[in-house]
Amino acid sequence: MDTKFDAGLDAMLEAAKSAIAYRRSIIEANNSPVSGYRELFNAFASPVPERGGDPRVIITNLIAHSIPGIRAMTGPRFFGWVIGGSHPTGVAADWLASAWGQNAANTMAAPAASAVEAVAANWLLDLLDLPRQSSVGFVTGATVANFVCLAAARSEVLRRVGWDVEGDGMFGAPPITVLIGEDAHATVYSALKYLGLGARRVVEIETDAVGRMKIAAFEQAIRQNNGPLIAIAQAGQINTGACDHFGEMCTMVAERQGWLHVDGAFGLWARASSSRAQLVTGVEKADSWATDGHKWLQVPYDCGYAIVRDAEAHRRAMAISASYLPPAEGEERDPSAFVPELSRRARGFATWAMIQQLGRCGIAEMIEQCCAVAAHMAAQLSAQTDILLVCPVELNQFMIVFGRGDDEFRDGMTLSVIHQVQEDAVLFVGSAKWRNRWVMRVSVCSMETTFKEGEKAVEAILTAWQKVKSA
Ligand SMILES: Cc1ncc(COP(=O)(O)O)c(C=O)c1O
Repeated sequence: MDTKFDAGLDAMLEAAKSAIAYRRSIIEANNSPVSGYRELFNAFASPVPERGGDPRVIITNLIAHSIPGIRAMTGPRFFGWVIGGSHPTGVAADWLASAWGQNAANTMAAPAASAVEAVAANWLLDLLDLPRQSSVGFVTGATVANFVCLAAARSEVLRRVGWDVEGDGMFGAPPITVLIGEDAHATVYSALKYLGLGARRVVEIETDAVGRMKIAAFEQAIRQNNGPLIAIAQAGQINTGACDHFGEMCTMVAERQGWLHVDGAFGLWARASSSRAQLVTGVEKADSWATDGHKWLQVPYDCGYAIVRDAEAHRRAMAISASYLPPAEGEERDPSAFVPELSRRARGFATWAMIQQLGRCGIAEMIEQCCAVAAHMAAQLSAQTDILLVCPVELNQFMIVFGRGDDEFRDGMTLSVIHQVQEDAVLFVGSAKWRNRWVMRVSVCSMETTFKEGEKAVEAILTAWQKVKSA
């Protein structure tokens, strides 16, 4: 055997050992990296190497340079953004996807990667209880899932008025009315931008105190606009977790022969839990859904799903064909027919493994646990007379503000507490603006976050608050 090749295999083993040691340490680890960006940049930087090196040394150095800058996102007390825990089983499957080096573009080239994705797609439709004929594209995350679903929407609403957008583009196309809630996620606007639908030319619908579209405003906007229509709802507002009134909205959009898309990056998973499913009642009547595997399913990054009721519209918007790419036959499904990329990661392995790992009951329990821990933390914090819960906890997200006094005073106190919490590093939590005021926003999205860990985090937040008050 080639010794250089062997050294590469040793490096794989070294990487695995280091990763396992890291994951063991993360439960108690600090939540902040010990080195900053500049220091880390300098550690990695050097002139371009003229000759290749020893794989073991390369990997050892990579680990040594990186560890001081790794944030404990997979730990039990990470409450920033909306971050799943990258479960070890999903990571193991994802390692194999890399090691096997499959280009999961088509069935002929990568039969196992294609087959596992097809099975995982069926399982997702079953778990989320969405129309079983829907097609599923395995993409990098909800940002791209929103893009893919809206590309299918654009294709279909224009096809219905006799316009072929895949062939003729957007120049001269009949205008499409896009309705979107005022509190939609920023990435949906990105998708609109990529699609030539314009982030600024949407009709924004007024929302209520938790960010849910007001149904009367939605109805009025539908009545005031004619022609091709795309409406974008959401399951799980990024700050409040609120979900739109899907049933009524779907009926109104269907009557207008429009398309209703749901950004359900994390909130769509409420469907997998019988105690939370009522929050997303009627969502199954929509035309497309974007969601993530790397959030509530605990699949490692990057993994999202673009789900489209009309598989033909999905395929029309995305499929790639060339004489050197043998198309799938019969019942076979080419993964690249439903995503923007040709060469692509085999994402089905990790999704299949995580669904096997948790099972239907495990997924439901995890969702219920996250929601219950979020509610418990919010109740403990807001039991303090000078900490205010901004909105009732609907799902797994909540916001709190600190201090009694005017808005400016509260903004200052809230940002100081967040800064102090980040410095103390027992947990990670971030800030956001809600209704123009700064809030501490907490997302409970990892199955590692038990009640005990939630209580530990609350204690650390209260300690930080005491420090800020006595400063
Ligand atoms: C509601 C919503 N939509 C879209 C996104 C973007 O998802 P991703 O970062 O996986 O692309 C997020 C991310 O948190 C989200 O919460």
